[in-house]
Amino acid sequence: MSITYKDAAGIAAMRTACRLASEVLDFLAPHVKPGVTTNEIDRLAAECMARQGTVSATLGYQPPGYTPYPKSLCTSLNHVVCHGIPNDKPLRKGDAMNIDVTVIKDGWFGDTSRMFLVGEPSIAAKRLSQVTFESLWHGINQVRPGARLGDIGAAIQKFAEGHGYSVVREFCGHGIGQNFHEEPQVLHYGRPGTLTELRPGMVFTIEPMLNAGRREVKELGDGWTIVTKDHSLSAQWEHTVVVTETGVEVLTMSAGTQPAPDFVDRERVRLATETATA
Ligand code: MF3
Ligand code: CO
Ligand code: CO
Repeated sequence: MSITYKDAAGIAAMRTACRLASEVLDFLAPHVKPGVTTNEIDRLAAECMARQGTVSATLGYQPPGYTPYPKSLCTSLNHVVCHGIPNDKPLRKGDAMNIDVTVIKDGWFGDTSRMFLVGEPSIAAKRLSQVTFESLWHGINQVRPGARLGDIGAAIQKFAEGHGYSVVREFCGHGIGQNFHEEPQVLHYGRPGTLTELRPGMVFTIEPMLNAGRREVKELGDGWTIVTKDHSLSAQWEHTVVVTETGVEVLTMSAGTQPAPDFVDRERVRLATETATA
């Protein structure tokens, strides 16, 4: 399948799906605390989606060669890189957890994830989470017509490695729209000026995974959970964005979204929460 360019109606539909995905995270945030299980968080998310009139894109999701994903979201704790499956273990003070939510609204997919630090976070988890968050925004800051996918990856890699962290290679951002995963692949490493040129109407995610230790990962026996090989701490943040005529609009925004860092060029980077909707 090739890259699909979204028209104004498609972008409006994506704005809605993406805001709703972000609002699921807003709703979950106060529930992420010591003693709560990730299964409870999953159940709360499923109820929230039902109230929204959205459907989880992950529940039953089955790419070729995989078993169906069993839950409404992903909860990736500590050394889990991504695709962690909610379970009955209570969260503990100091856990660092990514929650990744993808919802479908009227056939359109919105995909976003954030880090949650449970109770008193360690200095190490705070720093890794913050650097990963900023690396995502360094990637977003590159997006404009005429830029290339390699510019995004290079900006993320340079920032991450400059802080002593490694970038996971096996998983990447992706085109998204009326399908969960479309072309192009959005690598979180690379060289400036390489790969596909960005054009208005392209919609994709940027979702860097950074490790405190080595970049290598492995899959657990459940067929989904990805962990760092050296069991070092891992963090991830994800937004869905659309290339505009003049820059980029971040679609996965809601009242509870962490604000963009100061280094972001707000002349070119628009937030969907600032866009007037019909
Ligand atoms: N939401 C993830 C992404 O950002 C994909 C999760 S697939 C699942 O692409 F099956 F593990 F849920
Ligand atoms: Co994604
Ligand atoms: Co996601």
